[in-house]
Amino acid sequence: MCGIFGCALREGNAAPIIHAALKRLEYRGYDSVGEATISDGKLYVKKDRGKIDAVHKIHNLDDLPGSIGIGHTRWATHGAPLQVNAHPHLDCKKQIAVIHNGIIENFTELRLELEARGHVLKSKTDTEMIAHLIEDGLNVGNLKFADAVLEAVKKLEGSYSVAVISTNEPDKIVCARNESPLVIGVAAEGLYCASDIPALLPLTKKIVIVENGELVTLSRDDFEIRKIVDSSIVERKPKLIDWSPEMAVKDGYPHFMLKEIHEQPQTLRSTLRLQEHYLDLMATFLERAREVFLVACGTSYHACLAGSYMFSKLAFLGTYPVIASECVEQHGKSIGIDSTILAVSQSGETSDTLAAVMTARERAATILGLTNVVDSTLTRVSRVYIDQQSGPEIGVAATKTFTSQVSVLAQLALRVAKKRGKVSQDEMDYLGERLKNLPNDAETIIRRQEEKVRHIAKKYKDAKAFLFLGRGISTATAYEGRLKLMEIAYVPAIALPAGESKHGPIGLVEPGFPVVIVCPKDETHKTVIGNIMEMKARGASVIAVVEEGDQEIEKLADDYVEVPKGIGEVLSPILFVIPLQLLAYCMAVEKGYDPDMPRNLAKSVTVK
Ligand code: AGP
Repeated sequence: MCGIFGCALREGNAAPIIHAALKRLEYRGYDSVGEATISDGKLYVKKDRGKIDAVHKIHNLDDLPGSIGIGHTRWATHGAPLQVNAHPHLDCKKQIAVIHNGIIENFTELRLELEARGHVLKSKTDTEMIAHLIEDGLNVGNLKFADAVLEAVKKLEGSYSVAVISTNEPDKIVCARNESPLVIGVAAEGLYCASDIPALLPLTKKIVIVENGELVTLSRDDFEIRKIVDSSIVERKPKLIDWSPEMAVKDGYPHFMLKEIHEQPQTLRSTLRLQEHYLDLMATFLERAREVFLVACGTSYHACLAGSYMFSKLAFLGTYPVIASECVEQHGKSIGIDSTILAVSQSGETSDTLAAVMTARERAATILGLTNVVDSTLTRVSRVYIDQQSGPEIGVAATKTFTSQVSVLAQLALRVAKKRGKVSQDEMDYLGERLKNLPNDAETIIRRQEEKVRHIAKKYKDAKAFLFLGRGISTATAYEGRLKLMEIAYVPAIALPAGESKHGPIGLVEPGFPVVIVCPKDETHKTVIGNIMEMKARGASVIAVVEEGDQEIEKLADDYVEVPKGIGEVLSPILFVIPLQLLAYCMAVEKGYDPDMPRNLAKSVTVK
């Protein structure tokens, strides 16, 4: 996730406007920043690693000349947060500047082809080669600027929103979109492009949403949209966006938590584009380890719990999921040179997780990290780390970062399984397909179930307590649903593997007691029906999360929500948790609480 912005002004200096817009986009990434402008046919660039204010202090981002320019605030994906990797990126002749948000999957092939043709690329990013592709279009193909960008983006596989300026046609910005967001702003002073509407709102309320597969040429007083596939012109008029400043930061959603729940199709897409190389490297460490500890707190621990089922079921790899604050007490003495710790932490700064990691490090264990924040402490102490690329999560309740973590762990488990020869090609292909479908499935759940969940929340808003049950891997889903409900709606709740309920907790159940049961159609299905019967027999109100068309359970349950069919057992937490996130959110809103700022909690817990 990065923020991009461009402006073509009728008069005046673009740089301070770009700088101010980047500040509004800073939530999308803040490890490096850069701007490029054109004045008198010459390209000017300033960029560096660090937050916008820090970079501005050193380089003065406002004194770049010219009334046309682009700017970028970065959330590192390919290439460490260093000056050389900061955007904008230039071509060999320094005539073209490109900024990009997204992940290009075929960048290695394209880069090698360009290098074979004599291009010199300096960064480790998946962006720089776009500038060189455009350079070829202009200089070898003799194309016009917009056509050169169009031909370049046609070659890209993956997600992108790009904005490009060139000294060849210094009055234009050309931008294009596939999956990553892009909007255009139209004002009397000029035209703008940006990653999101809030970046534009102080400048204009006349907004054009760019759709996937479209390329836009902006001049100082007009814009033209074309389809990338066939260059055909698309007519689209600007819409008037009348958002309050508060709504603007939340992209029109009432809360960050809801926005982040809705972002999951996109964040899941990003995790499916992680660099093979890192996944493979981490899988190699896991595969060779004598023992593997999956260490984390809170939601990240639930991801580890789901991960441990995945490693066991797919790769026959036994792992210990450990709550970080207990890790040293429980395993401190046994961790040693043959141990591998996979620490999972959205923030990469959670004190308990880092304490466990540091102890393991002192004992010469191998440290692997899975985090959402590049340059966090966890990334610095890990032998190998994976950046899960969910983009900043502002809501204290982790939502999109959980589904991304589980998706990465699933990909790792599949890789270890492959290395060990533990899954058949058919199974690999099936799971590969299911993984690919996750973003669409997540979209379907949010679209079809949100309203239903709202009704359920209304119905149970005064319940004094909840019980969450799941079997097998769904235990992790149940734990996570319960944590969400407790932390933002303050409803006391218990979560258990369903089989455990009859060993004590069932004593709580009385008529009307709400019991949430996670019921994928896997090998636990029949037994779960038995558990539902036990609960119903004691008068519980059963709220079931089921696969579409699971009539057996739908008939038994008092209320149910559905996820698309056929996800299968191992990937099920990624989809089944979404209705539970929505339930917690709707309950909090029903009860009049602010889900983004739950009492007594902090986004990153940096004390023991
Ligand atoms: C999740 O909703 C919580 N806010 C909390 O449990 C969180 O997951 C935990 O503190 C771990 O954070 P981390 O992933 O940043 O290490």
